[in-house]
Amino acid sequence: MKAFIFDLDGVLVSTENNHFLAWQRCAHSLGIEFSEKENELLKGVSRIDSLKKILELGKKTIANDEFDRLLKSKNDFYLESIQDLNQDNLLPGVLAVLQSAKAHGILLGVGSSSKNANFILDKLKIQTYFDVVIDGNGVRNPKPDPEVFINGAKALDLSPAECLVFEDAASGIAAAKAGGFTAVGVGNPHIAALADIYLNDLTEFRIEEHA
Ligand code: BG6
Ligand code: MG
Repeated sequence: MKAFIFDLDGVLVSTENNHFLAWQRCAHSLGIEFSEKENELLKGVSRIDSLKKILELGKKTIANDEFDRLLKSKNDFYLESIQDLNQDNLLPGVLAVLQSAKAHGILLGVGSSSKNANFILDKLKIQTYFDVVIDGNGVRNPKPDPEVFINGAKALDLSPAECLVFEDAASGIAAAKAGGFTAVGVGNPHIAALADIYLNDLTEFRIEEHA
């Protein structure tokens, strides 16, 4: 493989629970039941589509200004909850994989649905590892559409077949596969059967098998 493209939330950093708690608060404010089970449907999904899914779950419709207010409130709560985020919040094995990929001359990218991706990468102090970062601000069609990963591969001047995508969400695995990438599922047993390769965490990744 010539490049590794990583999802951010839930693959590089442990922010998935912060998203979950922020969406749960939002759903509860609408009187909608929202547990980890429902949250599974939101993983990897853009902010707007996530709120649409919550409203579908609760069979609710709301006015546009209320929709926008909830999006802002969710993001404010989420950002507040990650204000102390730092390198300690990187998931197991991340730094070692980034470092050994660099040593093997493998290009690195981020392909995230989050509009906060660059802000988070800055906090984690891992920006310099990445040759390209495609985030929720840079795509028209969010995951499960493959656009984010296709844009990443194009920016690296590579074909999807030359890139390995790392994902923790069903929507992200679907995006990777739809784009013709090999999909490595990480840290979420719900997606083990969907991925081409499954790892409990990145400490299990053997770079020699993919370099
Ligand atoms: C994805 C997360 O990476 O980004 C989702 O898995 C999140 O949980 C989505 O909703 C959008 O993130 P943000 O930071 O733009 O609200
Ligand atoms: Mg994710």
